[in-house]
Amino acid sequence: MNINKNYMNLKDSYLFSSIAKRVGEFAGRNPGKEIIRLGIGDVTRPLVPAVIQAMSRAVDEMGRAETFRGYGDEQGYSFLRKAICGFYAAKGIELQEDEVFVSDGAKSDTGNIGDIFSSVNTVLIPDPVYPVYVDTNIMAGREIIYMKGNEDNGFLPLPEPRVKADIIYLCSPNNPTGAVYTKEQLGLWVDYAIENDAVILFDSAYDSFVNDKNLPVSIYQISRARECVIEFASFSKTAGFTGTRCGYTVVPNGLIRNDSSLNKLWLRRQTTKFNGVPYIVQRGAEAVFSPEGLAQIQENINYYLENAEIISGTLARRGIWFTGGKNSPYVWFRCPGNMSSWEFFDFLLEKANVVGTPGAGFGVGGEGFFRLSSFGNREDVVSAMERFKSII
Ligand code: MLT
Repeated sequence: MNINKNYMNLKDSYLFSSIAKRVGEFAGRNPGKEIIRLGIGDVTRPLVPAVIQAMSRAVDEMGRAETFRGYGDEQGYSFLRKAICGFYAAKGIELQEDEVFVSDGAKSDTGNIGDIFSSVNTVLIPDPVYPVYVDTNIMAGREIIYMKGNEDNGFLPLPEPRVKADIIYLCSPNNPTGAVYTKEQLGLWVDYAIENDAVILFDSAYDSFVNDKNLPVSIYQISRARECVIEFASFSKTAGFTGTRCGYTVVPNGLIRNDSSLNKLWLRRQTTKFNGVPYIVQRGAEAVFSPEGLAQIQENINYYLENAEIISGTLARRGIWFTGGKNSPYVWFRCPGNMSSWEFFDFLLEKANVVGTPGAGFGVGGEGFFRLSSFGNREDVVSAMERFKSII
């Protein structure tokens, strides 16, 4: 019996688990302190009324023999996939229903997608980056090449022709840096992927935070992206589903590698290993795309974007370098006083009782930087920034 030894190459625990443990220990030592959590990007606004009503109707249906449902459709119910296609059509992108796979979230799918690729592939990953892309490729034993994000490139690395990779991870608006690729920049990535016969895994979980009409809200707005990109999307941040769990992945029918359709491989993988998202949740997700649903979630998105403005405004007035905070719920900044990421984490926690995420947790390229999430309550964000001002 042999275990997967690649796990020995991982850090001891997942970034957000390590932070939760550290904060838990601090809370234990300081029982009276009111801790404000702007670390993990977890939403605080409740599900919107359109979603709740749709889910309640679905609960009733599940309680009546005539309308009860067992196993759902393999790729997700057609009503939800149709609604997703409609949402893309409004962005000017035509999708076929069978190109959409409903799942329990972008984290699972960006992690699981590796099942359809050989472990001999070389993977290109930005640094800093959402740790799931790195950890899942370490688990699979793939060679990883990092592309550096830094202040000079605005944390938006671009392809370098001399670097050869088979799989490329991109996330825009970016987690953790909040930076957003332009259409031209994404065009360079698509060209690179086509030239190298590579596949881009594009995490679009934060697309709804894009306000600027010139910025892309899906990589399929770039010509020929359908030939080289799998896109992952999520209701988590967009519609408050972090605890409810629903997302979807688009695998275009035209995406062929080694004479095989990646859509068919993913279908085979999902039908074997995944039994779908609950009917009740899918009905709630469908309601997100109704006119009322879209208007209601937009209010929450605006609320978070206003929080982001409060955070980035505070940093700007202090003369601290940052990215994000516009078209993105994350604000990423250089740690004041040249502190390292973890030094600043401890400083902010101890002196202000505010939790953020140390940039170094997202890779060596994040050292010296820090991320604050705008998904908190308004009062918490305002008071966290008051506390921040009093110690910086
Ligand atoms: C984050 O804080 O980076 C996200 O909440 C992580 C996630 O979506 O899994």
